[in-house]
Amino acid sequence: MSALIYGAYGYTGTLIARAAAEQGLQPVLAGRDADRLSDLGSTLELPTRRASLSEPEELRAALDDASVVLHCAGPFVHTAAPMVAACLETGTHYLDLTGEVDVFRRLADRDADAEAAGCMLLPGIGFDVVPSDCLAQFVAQKTPDANTLEVALYADGTVSRGTLKTLIEQMGRGGVVRREGRLHDVPPGWTSRNVDFGDRRRGVISIPEGSVVTSGVSTEVPNVTAYIAVPLLVQSLLRSSRHVRGLLAWPPLKRLLKRLVEQRPAGPTAEERRQGRTVVWASARGPGGRSTTARLHGPEAYTFTARAAVEALQRVLNETVPSGYQTPATAFGADFALAVDGTSRHIVEGPPGA
Ligand SMILES: NC(=O)c1ccc[n+]([C@@H]2O[C@H](COP(=O)([O-])OP(=O)(O)OC[C@H]3O[C@@H](n4cnc5c(N)ncnc54)[C@H](OP(=O)(O)O)[C@@H]3O)[C@@H](O)[C@H]2O)c1
Repeated sequence: MSALIYGAYGYTGTLIARAAAEQGLQPVLAGRDADRLSDLGSTLELPTRRASLSEPEELRAALDDASVVLHCAGPFVHTAAPMVAACLETGTHYLDLTGEVDVFRRLADRDADAEAAGCMLLPGIGFDVVPSDCLAQFVAQKTPDANTLEVALYADGTVSRGTLKTLIEQMGRGGVVRREGRLHDVPPGWTSRNVDFGDRRRGVISIPEGSVVTSGVSTEVPNVTAYIAVPLLVQSLLRSSRHVRGLLAWPPLKRLLKRLVEQRPAGPTAEERRQGRTVVWASARGPGGRSTTARLHGPEAYTFTARAAVEALQRVLNETVPSGYQTPATAFGADFALAVDGTSRHIVEGPPGA
């Protein structure tokens, strides 16, 4: 049984490859640039394999003896499809780091193909969506007949170039909520509220976060909204962006912004990762006012991502995993998030004995 990390020399791929090596895994490092792979391979003393996503035969050959691939090369809206196609042909389990709602939706549509191929499709095995998906399932299971679920994320620290490029790619997309069991596109910053993150209440605004899609599989709650904590100015900008969505989706503007992003550091420094922290809040409500609210406190988002991804790789290598489209919670259970070192869960409000 062997693992392959694709996009290994990117910022997050490198964090994961290093964490995997520290845990004693021997993943093959893969990507499209032989020189950068060779540098990383020598540093971590791990084998490397060059393969391009646009060369299906080369990609299939790279996956041939891998039982699982961890795909770290985003934006996944451009890169997930060829990797998923290769995994379905080679029967390789697929994990990725996407947070893009449209990628979750497309992969969910491949459920039957993955079942037939005997492999698991598990997108979102990073900070997006492990804590939100696992906490959503946790509060939903504690609230019989829950009909409304809200999830909110708080993360301090900076984001990587790759994350910024992925966000730019989604500009103009608008929001998504689940209503009566169906996904609905809504304007950007559609709704807002305040949430108690433990240290203080913060204003949060709705975003198209992946758990709006994954909760349709991980829970049976028909109405789901996801939020993120951002300053009031950012909330206003997000709301105003609904008037210029056409401009934001304009490809030349996206190209320009991506060029500007190239001037930024690759991602948070080691010190920023050490100091940063995350809080995810989720609340499920049922008839008669029954509700369960809980928080998950965890390490900085990229540290969380690396630890969660390595934990998932270890489980796929050592355990029997379900085939078909899965979410972190359906593949590994609501407690999976607690396996991420430095993470704790607290029930804020719940039924007696919760
Ligand atoms: N779920 C989460 O919480 C979470 C956390 C961290 C990151 N992410 C996501 O993970 C992705 C990577 O982030 P990052 O910070 O590692 O970015 P990064 O440092 O820019 O690395 C991106 C990697 O993807 C490769 N890549 C991009 N397009 C490719 C293509 N068409 N074919 C082959 N390789 C390609 C790049 O290779 P080249 O240099 O050769 O182009 C590079 O190795 C982003 O989409 C980000 O949003 C998600």
